[in-house]
Amino acid sequence: MSDSFKFEIDGVEVLARRGQSIMQAADEAGIYIPRLCDVEGLEPQGSCRVCVVKQNGRVVSACTQPVIEGSIVENESEEILGYRRDLVRMLYHEGNHLCPICEASGRCELQAMGYRLGITQATKYPYLQPVRPVDASHPDIVLDTNRCILCGRCIRASRDIDKKHVFEYVGRGIRKRVGVNGYNLADTDIALSDRAIDLATCPVGCIIQKGRGFFAPIGERQFDKRPITLGILPVKERSEQ
Ligand code: SF4
Ligand code: SF4
Ligand code: FES
Repeated sequence: MSDSFKFEIDGVEVLARRGQSIMQAADEAGIYIPRLCDVEGLEPQGSCRVCVVKQNGRVVSACTQPVIEGSIVENESEEILGYRRDLVRMLYHEGNHLCPICEASGRCELQAMGYRLGITQATKYPYLQPVRPVDASHPDIVLDTNRCILCGRCIRASRDIDKKHVFEYVGRGIRKRVGVNGYNLADTDIALSDRAIDLATCPVGCIIQKGRGFFAPIGERQFDKRPITLGILPVKERSEQ
């Protein structure tokens, strides 16, 4: 049995290898499927659902769903774009997002995704305006959970790459948030060299390095130059911008 086979994304024939997710095969073919909880170098978690597609008429998350040989995948249909807009809108409504004063503005994947999806107003749902903690106890790092979208990228990076387990989900339902393995950040063994702290790990402005705020001027920020798409710079280069 051959290791590779064909399937279709929005009418384009794509080659996949057995065991690949829809997203992996799409990436290799140069077709962008939007994502927020998935990032290069970390195991997919399948939680944000922004990568929603239809495979043979069934709604699935592209980052975790294996490609089926000969399947028909819808990525850019109006129905799928509508789902993604709603998912991204809800992320804005669940947290406290004040982009004009946010350190991550211009390099934030949530903001860039909003632009990409053409979300021009965010008044479809009520704002929850949760009261969430800001942990500035550490000499080098701030954790501002007001902007957290619960993508789990910091959790996986700390657990799987740094081998430290600094971050974890705490609470349930609407009170679920990211907490740290200690009373506060200063109580943990987190370090600036950790992958969890790399600026490309947190997709929003939740994990901030002290002394590096607003390091790129307007016009020079990552998504000033181009919209969020496939081939966003490799992790190491992205953290330099
Ligand atoms: S994290 Fe992103 S979406 Fe939230 S306030 Fe900052 S720039 Fe805006
Ligand atoms: S702190 Fe950042 S990386 Fe961690 S879960 Fe929240 S948004 Fe994701
Ligand atoms: S990128 Fe697939 S569920 Fe988040």
